[in-house]
Amino acid sequence: MTTLYEGAFAKLNLTLDVLGKREDGYHDLQSVMQTISIRDDIEIDVETGKPWRLLCSREGIPTDETNLAWKAAKVYCDAMGKDPQGLEIRILKRIPSGAGMGGGSADAAAVLRALNRHYGNPLSILALAELGAQVGSDVPFCTVCGTAMVEGRGEKLRKLPDLPDCFFVVCKPDFSVSTPELYQKIDTVAIAQRPDNRAMESALLAGDLGKVAENIWNVFDPIVTSEHLELNYIKSIFHSYGALSQQMTGSGSAVFGILPSFEYAAVVCNMLKDNYPNIFIAKPV
Ligand code: C5P
Repeated sequence: MTTLYEGAFAKLNLTLDVLGKREDGYHDLQSVMQTISIRDDIEIDVETGKPWRLLCSREGIPTDETNLAWKAAKVYCDAMGKDPQGLEIRILKRIPSGAGMGGGSADAAAVLRALNRHYGNPLSILALAELGAQVGSDVPFCTVCGTAMVEGRGEKLRKLPDLPDCFFVVCKPDFSVSTPELYQKIDTVAIAQRPDNRAMESALLAGDLGKVAENIWNVFDPIVTSEHLELNYIKSIFHSYGALSQQMTGSGSAVFGILPSFEYAAVVCNMLKDNYPNIFIAKPV
């Protein structure tokens, strides 16, 4: 038996635009995504000689073949014609669930990287990301990590320059949002403001954190905020204590702020942590 270890990094959507509904029921997106230093730890035992099994440190997460990490292992083994002779996947969960931080997708991506490494890296990272699209829309980006423009359903990736040095504070309120319902809802509303992804790309190319912050925008944010006004409270604390900008990530409900230093990030965290224990300081990775 061999044990593989891999980190699974959470993502934030610096921008998120929904361009329209596709014939397959999904939506075409345009999003600048960023991985951050909040991570789950994945351990995989290969050649256990027993039926496949998944264990997760957090209750309420499915531990059967519906878990994206399990699906990723199955997709990899099927595509590559490998039989691992029994697998046990263990997930130490730190990424909040129902947050818009891609927790399940990050775990799936980590499984793909770990198995690919175990078998001698037969797939390039981009080929691995392509395989990840079969598991979930955010899996391709979570496979590649860093900063990228993500398009199509989530399978078209273009690497962008690293984000300038900064700190994130990520605050996950108690409620969660149903991603499919939110996508349904956005089909019925007029999107008043969209992100300027070209301006975001230029800001990244110039390494200009102020301009990056100016261009943070997620079309889902106003929809979720109108139903959960506490997001305005969280954002107002971010704003008051020095965040360069603040925004919901993905389909929510976590809100992140960009802070210029650890000291600023620590102050925001202190101001929110009594009401919101699910709060984190992170760096881009
Ligand atoms: O691909 P994934 O399972 O992560 O997507 C979850 C749900 O989000 C889908 O069932 C769909 O309702 C919605 N979705 C979408 N268009 C995308 C990504 C997700 O409509 N590009």
